[in-house]
Amino acid sequence: MEERLHIITHEYKISSAEREIKNGYHSACLWFTGLSGSGKSTVANTVEQYLYNNGFNTYSLDGDNIRKGLNKDLNFSEEGRIENIRRIGEVAKLMCDAGLIVLAAFVSPFIKDRQLLRELMKGKFIEIFVDAPLEVCEQRDVKGLYKKARNGEISNFTGISSPFEIPQNPDVHIHTDKYSIEESTEQVVSTILPKLKI
Ligand code: ADX
Repeated sequence: MEERLHIITHEYKISSAEREIKNGYHSACLWFTGLSGSGKSTVANTVEQYLYNNGFNTYSLDGDNIRKGLNKDLNFSEEGRIENIRRIGEVAKLMCDAGLIVLAAFVSPFIKDRQLLRELMKGKFIEIFVDAPLEVCEQRDVKGLYKKARNGEISNFTGISSPFEIPQNPDVHIHTDKYSIEESTEQVVSTILPKLKI
């Protein structure tokens, strides 16, 4: 703690606002939260494709990938998830500062952590609740993890043995059990595009 008192913020010559003007749009972090198998990565990918094809510089951060690299030292305990989301938040913030549209797909099950992300990234944080009932996600069981969680082969599994706290006031709420990927993508895109305009 004492040591941190001696770290003095370095002011950069080029501000993130200048980068945004050069790009012609505001950077943002589109944060997809929801159960495993709800469709976060799928919708984040199609939204990214749309943005990329329409001239935006984008980058995707995805739970399964980040947990193999940057966060491979973290487990799925409450502390592990809190630190996972904290680090990703800092990375996403840097990417926003660099002028990117960041698409982050993480279960991110705790309200408190998502609130911290909102405070960290201020107006740039856009929370997208990818909603599908647990029964539907379990039925899909794309990765076979729900079966393992039910068998007790995986502990602390979100929705089964670890909680998912429903977003109270997300910026976008999509229902992947009722609408197609194209419809959900359209819902996200039409909500966020006005926010990216300078
Ligand atoms: S988070 O809770 O910390 O936000 P994150 O999004 O990084 O989770 O990783 C979730 C992915 O890890 C899931 O999509 C799933 O494939 C895998 N996974 C492995 N174990 C668990 C678990 N115990 N709970 C949830 N997801 C798990």
